[in-house]
Amino acid sequence: MLSLTPNPIKVLDFYDDGENTRHYQFCIQNPEQHLAPWLKAESGQFFMLCLPGVGEAPFTFTALPDERGLFKALVRKTGSVTEALFRCGVGDVIGARGPFGRGWPMDSLTQKRILVVGGGCGIAPLASVIEQMLDSQDFIQMEVVYAARNRASLMLNPERERWQHSVPMFNVVEDVTGLSESEYYQGTALGILPKVLHTFGEQPDRVLLAGPETMQTVAAEYLVAYGIDPKSIFLSIERRMHCAVGLCGHCYLNEKYVCSHGPTFSWAELLRYDIAC
Ligand SMILES: Cc1cc2nc3c(=O)[nH]c(=O)nc-3n(C[C@H](O)[C@H](O)[C@H](O)COP(=O)(O)OP(=O)(O)OC[C@H]3O[C@@H](n4cnc5c(N)ncnc54)[C@H](O)[C@@H]3O)c2cc1C
Ligand code: FES
Repeated sequence: MLSLTPNPIKVLDFYDDGENTRHYQFCIQNPEQHLAPWLKAESGQFFMLCLPGVGEAPFTFTALPDERGLFKALVRKTGSVTEALFRCGVGDVIGARGPFGRGWPMDSLTQKRILVVGGGCGIAPLASVIEQMLDSQDFIQMEVVYAARNRASLMLNPERERWQHSVPMFNVVEDVTGLSESEYYQGTALGILPKVLHTFGEQPDRVLLAGPETMQTVAAEYLVAYGIDPKSIFLSIERRMHCAVGLCGHCYLNEKYVCSHGPTFSWAELLRYDIAC
């Protein structure tokens, strides 16, 4: 039977990572009882973070749960649940349920040319897929675009620093004040796309997009005009969620629910569901 009861998780560690954003490490408690479903989590899936007496909100994994029950998430403070989390200290026990939804199409990425584009907090659902691909090295080519507003809003600095030793990274910032010109381009994710596609040589076989929805949809339209198949472009879509399991209808996207049919969708699917905004 479907259980909506949260499992206890401990706040193990966190550090500030961008404006009003923290990178958290959690640990699933009583692993012998609760760990099994979490070990099946896939990159791009999400979980509901439950703050007793406050509420729940969905977050993606930046690092998937391991055998010790450890996992990570990047959390931006926006409202009641995230404010309550930011008030928690190391050692506090809160709740989580999941994993939920459909992750990135990992099987279809092997031996492919992959372009990854993350804007702002949208780098969160892409972090574990980048790590997984770098661990396996089972790709022909991978290039990563990360876009932010300014120096203060940059996220996942240690991770991006590590990635750029293995794959070309295009860090793009609208206001480059205080940043090294050798590491950061001035501009936006959309503005840098022609340059990135030029360096690819051959067209990318798969594109993964995450971030502000308008950025994703405009990028998808540009990539289709460039000749990439809408079925090969994948987006991560956010909607307000309550149940997270396809029961309440809050995350309705035309005839689909983002929580159970997504949050990752191909651009071909989204065109059918008339999401283009
Ligand atoms: C699949 C998925 C994955 C996500 N992953 C991440 C992640 O990895 N990291 C991250 O930081 N965030 C992520 N989010 C976003 C996160 O879930 C939201 O920011 C969430 O609302 C935070 O909860 P809160 O209670 O702190 O804020 P809320 O109280 O929900 O408020 C957040 C914002 O929404 C507005 N709002 C409140 N109620 C409504 C309403 N009924 N309709 C419309 N707007 C409203 C508020 O004014 C505020 O600006 C994800 C969302 C989804 C759907
Ligand atoms: S959140 Fe309830 S149906 Fe998606």
